[in-house]
Amino acid sequence: MALQRSLTHFLRLANSLAVINCSQVVTLAGAKRARTGGDLRQLASIDDGAILVRDERIEAVGRRREIEALIEADCEVIDAGKRVVLPGFVDAHAHPVFAGNRANEFEQRTAGTTYREIAASGGGIRATVRATRNASLSDLLKAGRRYAYWFLRCGTTTVEAKSGYGLTLEDELKILRAIKQLNEETPLNYVPTFLGAHDIPDEYKSRRETYLNLVINEMLPRVAEERLAEYCDVFCEEGVFTTDESWQILSAARCHGLGLRVHADQLSLSGGAKLAAELNAVTADHLEHTDLTGIAALKAANVQPVLLPGSVYALGSPRYPAARAMIDAGLAVVVATDFNPGSSPTPSMTMVLSLACTQMKMTPAEAITAATINAAYSLNRGDEIGSLERGKRADFVIHDASDYRELPYWFGVEHPWRVYVSGKLACQRPDR
Ligand code: NIG
Ligand code: FE
Repeated sequence: MALQRSLTHFLRLANSLAVINCSQVVTLAGAKRARTGGDLRQLASIDDGAILVRDERIEAVGRRREIEALIEADCEVIDAGKRVVLPGFVDAHAHPVFAGNRANEFEQRTAGTTYREIAASGGGIRATVRATRNASLSDLLKAGRRYAYWFLRCGTTTVEAKSGYGLTLEDELKILRAIKQLNEETPLNYVPTFLGAHDIPDEYKSRRETYLNLVINEMLPRVAEERLAEYCDVFCEEGVFTTDESWQILSAARCHGLGLRVHADQLSLSGGAKLAAELNAVTADHLEHTDLTGIAALKAANVQPVLLPGSVYALGSPRYPAARAMIDAGLAVVVATDFNPGSSPTPSMTMVLSLACTQMKMTPAEAITAATINAAYSLNRGDEIGSLERGKRADFVIHDASDYRELPYWFGVEHPWRVYVSGKLACQRPDR
């Protein structure tokens, strides 16, 4: 009897949940599209707000009094203690499955060696490729789980996940299978991207064509057939893949039904943004060197820019992408971490918000929109996540702050107090 009662109690708890006494519920409710222009500043925040969740979905969002009137006796009620609630961050550009780390290169960079010099001498991406090839699936899962909880602790509930540290058919499949398994076994949601064209591996240095053929004729068909990726990405950059080569790979990817993303104009103005526009890619990412012509091309083709200030910061470069010009041009800007062991070793979206505000002069509201609803649209999930609206998956975070502007303002602080994915507590900080 007691057992049955506690079971019923458990099932009911799993069913409905209310979060009350929130200083602000930052809903990002609005038009069902990625936000541009002045709409980037409209957070649709509700003071003294509350949320009701039922069966993993948001049932209602409103003022505390309105929501309290809907709470039934068996509903679990969380007192947010006048904290601010936001949608879980959607990190639309990350490389979260790899072996080892590159703290040694980080130290070399402090002595003045550049990222490109390190790459040219056999380090960089290729160093992580060697380590990742030597790792088993279970090694990758072990490392990947650790990072999954880093993301969750930082308030991220969905992450885009690129392969790209295998660069053989089997090693790329191994990474994509790890991503699939991490998606199933951790509370974090992953959106997989195939990045077989992340670099030319050492053994193909003098046979680029052969590697391109391998990507196009063997890797892509297999990845598509096993449904291991939703997107394909290419590192289009001087000394890596030319715009021509990138065009070939991305066109083939499109024939397999994959959406397109491009690492574009990161280290030089190499034509990546224009290529992304020509191919009607979903996103063009990085864009540190993109000029006004490139920005206009992105606008004409409706490509979303994904800005990655964490990589600019970690490489010690002063050259941040021109976020204000992109916003002025009417682009639906996204910000993301670029989490990876080389150029951007951070899973923290609040660090990215801070950099977006201080270095790219986005307002806190614009940065939050770029990190949530706009990012969700860039991953074809705008109807499912990215805002707190009735019917959406209940992915939200109670941050230990009372105003959303505190998130970029107090930097280097892990703000999340409670993180919920599909209405379930995914991680929490001990109470103080
Ligand atoms: O987005 N630019 C290419 N790829 C990554 C870096 C990967 C690495 O250094 O391991 C990036 O910055
Ligand atoms: Fe990247």
